[in-house]
Amino acid sequence: MSDFKKIVEPLLKWYEAERRILPWREDPQPYHVWVSEIMLQQTRVEAVIEYYHRFLARFPDVSSLAAADLDEVLSYWQGLGYYRRCEMLYKAAKVVNDDYGGVLPCDHDAILALPGVGRYTAAAIMSIGFGEPYPAVDGNVLRVIMRVTDRDDCIDEEKVKRKIETELAEIMPKDHASAFTQGLMDLGATICLPNGEPKCDICPWTHFCAGKYRAGILPVRKEKKPRKSEDRTVFLLLLGDKVAVRKRPEKGLLAKMWEFPNDSGILTSNEVLMAYDGHVRDLGKATHIFSHIEWHMQGYVVELQTKPNDETLVWAKKEEIADYAIPSAFSFIKKVL
Ligand code: ADE
Repeated sequence: MSDFKKIVEPLLKWYEAERRILPWREDPQPYHVWVSEIMLQQTRVEAVIEYYHRFLARFPDVSSLAAADLDEVLSYWQGLGYYRRCEMLYKAAKVVNDDYGGVLPCDHDAILALPGVGRYTAAAIMSIGFGEPYPAVDGNVLRVIMRVTDRDDCIDEEKVKRKIETELAEIMPKDHASAFTQGLMDLGATICLPNGEPKCDICPWTHFCAGKYRAGILPVRKEKKPRKSEDRTVFLLLLGDKVAVRKRPEKGLLAKMWEFPNDSGILTSNEVLMAYDGHVRDLGKATHIFSHIEWHMQGYVVELQTKPNDETLVWAKKEEIADYAIPSAFSFIKKVL
C-alpha cells in the first residue's frame, strides 16, 4: 500500500458522517452534476443553490435546455456571473441532444470534448454522476493535497495539477468514486480552509498530515496581476413607460448580455444634461468587481423629453425588464425600476 493511500479510508468515513446536504447530491444524475459543477466553477455553494433549483425547474433535462433560446437560458443565469459558462453549457446541451440523443454518455473523452467542460468538470461528472474513478482536481483539492503531503510545488503549473491527478487516480477507490471526489471537495470547503485557520483539530487526516504546521504558507501560488480599474457612467434612460437597454458586443466581458447604456469615464450631472434632453437625477456610485477588472460606476436616471437618436438602444417596457439578462454589475440601476 502506497503511503499516500492512507488518506482514503478516513476521508470516506468522514464524508459519510459529515457531508454537506446539497441539492445536487439528492439525485446525482449526470445532467444534474453537470449543471451544478458549471454553476459552482466560480460561484460559492450558498449562492448557487437557489439558481440550481430554478434552472432545473425550467430545464429539467438536456433536451429542454437544448430547445430553449440562449436569451432565456441566460436570464436564468442572471446574477450568477461568468455568463460564458452558461453559453457553453447551452452549446454543449445542443451537442448532447444532437449526437447522443439527449443523454450524457458514460465516456470520459466524449464528455471532456463538450464545450465548456475541462478536465476538472469531466472528472466530476464521471465520478459523481457515473461512479467512475476519475479524480476531479480543482484549486480546493490541490490545496488539501499539497498540505497533507507538505509540498511546495506551485499549484498554478499545469504539470503539478497533472501529477496530483495521476497520484489520486492511483489511490481512488473504484467502488466509492463519488464519495472520494466529494469528500475531497468538502474537506477543502469546511476543514482545510484557504483563508484563515484550517480546522486541523477536527480533520480526519490530522494524525498524519505532514503540512499541518505550514498550512498558512501552503499551497504555493504564482503572484497574481493586479486588476485593472475602470470608471464608467451608467444611464437609466426613461421615455414614458419605456426604458433603454442595449446588447453588449459578441466578444469580451459580459458578451451578448443586455445592459443599461453606459460610457467610459465619470460624467457630472451637468455633462449628462448636455448629452440628453430631459430631467436628470443622480443615482449615486457603485463598484463591481470582475475577475480581471473592476468598474467604478456613477449612475443617473434621465427622464427624457425626446427619444435619443441611437440605433443601438432597445426600448423595453419597464415591467418586462426581468426578461432581459442584465448582469448584477447593473443592479444599482435596475433596483430603481
Ligand atoms: N464545489 C464544486 N463542486 C462541488 C460539489 N459537487 N459539491 C460541493 N461543492 C462543490
